[in-house]
Amino acid sequence: MGNLSLSILVLIAIFGSCWSHEVVSDNDDGGLYPFIGTNRETLEIIIGGGGGEAPAPSPEDCPPPPPEPECPPPASPPPPPPPPPPPPPPPPPTPKPPPRPPSKCGYRSSNLCFENELLATSYGVIQKFKKLIKPDENGKRYTKTWNGPNVCKYKGFNCDVRPDVKKKAVAAVDFNGAKLSGINGSLPLHDFIDGLTDLAIFHANSNNFTGTVPFIGTSKIKYLYELDLSNNKITDDFPMEVLRATQLTFLDIRFNRIKGVVPATVFKLDLDVLFINNNNFRQRLPENLGDTPALYITFANNKFTGRIPPSIGKAKNLLEVLFLNNELTGCLPYEIGYLQNATVFDVGMNKLTGPIPHSFGCLKKMEQLNLAGNEFYGEVPEIVCRLSNLQNLSLSSNYFTQVGPACRDLVMKKKLNVKNNCILDLPEQRSKADCAMFFSRKLICDRTESFKWIPCMAGKNGFHSNSTEESEKKESTGSSSSSPSATTYGVLKPHRL
Ligand SMILES: *[C@@H]1O[C@H](CO)[C@@H](O)[C@H](O)[C@H]1NC(C)=O
Ligand SMILES: *[C@@H]1O[C@H](CO)[C@@H](O)[C@H](O)[C@H]1NC(C)=O
Ligand SMILES: *[C@@H]1O[C@H](CO)[C@@H](O)[C@H](O)[C@H]1NC(C)=O
Ligand SMILES: *[C@@H]1O[C@H](CO)[C@@H](O)[C@H](O)[C@H]1NC(C)=O
Ligand SMILES: *[C@@H]1O[C@H](CO)[C@@H](O)[C@H](O)[C@H]1NC(C)=O
Repeated sequence: MGNLSLSILVLIAIFGSCWSHEVVSDNDDGGLYPFIGTNRETLEIIIGGGGGEAPAPSPEDCPPPPPEPECPPPASPPPPPPPPPPPPPPPPPTPKPPPRPPSKCGYRSSNLCFENELLATSYGVIQKFKKLIKPDENGKRYTKTWNGPNVCKYKGFNCDVRPDVKKKAVAAVDFNGAKLSGINGSLPLHDFIDGLTDLAIFHANSNNFTGTVPFIGTSKIKYLYELDLSNNKITDDFPMEVLRATQLTFLDIRFNRIKGVVPATVFKLDLDVLFINNNNFRQRLPENLGDTPALYITFANNKFTGRIPPSIGKAKNLLEVLFLNNELTGCLPYEIGYLQNATVFDVGMNKLTGPIPHSFGCLKKMEQLNLAGNEFYGEVPEIVCRLSNLQNLSLSSNYFTQVGPACRDLVMKKKLNVKNNCILDLPEQRSKADCAMFFSRKLICDRTESFKWIPCMAGKNGFHSNSTEESEKKESTGSSSSSPSATTYGVLKPHRL
């Protein structure tokens, strides 16, 4: 990722047990709250919510930073000092041990002493929520720590100083992988997430949250910038409430049971990450898709129909685009060639057709290009096979008829799969009858001339036509390092890895 101006920290990893103390999207102050007006260039994204984000360990909670050590699980709460161990000749258990509460009582409520009223309010919300959780092993693992006024020590919660009021508050919920369920099969988000109005981060991958998403607009939860509800049982329509959470940069609602319509306005949100794969969305892709400033979008495994909107060419931040396994139709817009930083473009298993636009030769960073399982046809442009970063060009099960030398070279190197096409002199192709049947149909794309356009080689008139042997500077960027890349394929699995 050397040359990316963004520093993307991708942690799809098995986190150790100290997962209430991993640093998240830290800003310069090491805290959980986003800087207002955070500059995209300085953002760090942890995809997958990394199993547990939390503030930098606050000095009193955790042994100081030195990397490895795991934080002692909160199992043994400090308050009542245990009878001192052998070493020094101990005076018999003092009847009245100095209770030394961590700090003065800033706010008293329900007979408990809280540091401030924000924490007292969160305490009330959490205690109500606790009653709804099924007390199975998973539930108890969390709820057994949810006692007493120090909510910042509760498993699954983390605190930070809220920037506007300068008070400690519950800034993060991290239930990733917690597998919490409702006591009677329903575990609502209502009155929980919207009760925790100081939240910056809500991560709840792989739980049994049910129902719909309550209002979480910025007017209510001012700093909410990461929302991960993936792999729950959220139902109904797209949660329009998220559209009012204008601070969001990370929105992950994949693997739920959401149907209905993805509103066009979601592409106006200032997101870095939009994961909506594996739901029941059935609609045309909104034409304004290209308004999104996101780096990663995954729409895979839904029932999106219609064409890929040409506006996609405006979404220049895009690094990875997963549209696979939908019902997209029409021809590929040449504007995809404008996605100069994209490394993954996957439209496998749709009903797309037409030739591959020569503009794909401009995707200089492309590593994984998957067009397999569609109805593409024609010649595979040599300029695409010459893309120097390509690791995997998957074109199988289409109706391509020709491949030139550069492409054949890729086939030899096993980087290009063209099985089950109509390329006469290659093995494992479709039957002649299949191919004949397909080509007897009328094949049309709009803007036919645009398929030869190669915007990155713009000449006097903006575009070269008919290019192939143009001087493609063969980006000999010595990028031999087979980059790991392809971050978002991981999100096609329900759980965090
Ligand atoms: C593409 O990547 C380059 C190099 O990392 C960066 O300078 C540029 O800003 C990126 N372009 C966009 C539109 O993000
Ligand atoms: C959560 O939902 C899954 C899938 O419906 C179910 O198999 C599982 O039993 C539920 N978990 C609990 C603890 O109820
Ligand atoms: C489960 O409990 C909640 C809260 O008590 C209640 O509103 C809901 O109707 C119950 N659901 C079922 C299926 O019993
Ligand atoms: C190449 O991509 C295709 C489609 O995504 C995938 O099925 C295949 O496993 C990949 N091949 C390699 C070698 O990674
Ligand atoms: C390329 O351009 C030449 C002349 O400009 C033309 O004769 C030829 O048909 C074009 N080839 C293609 C594939 O368009």
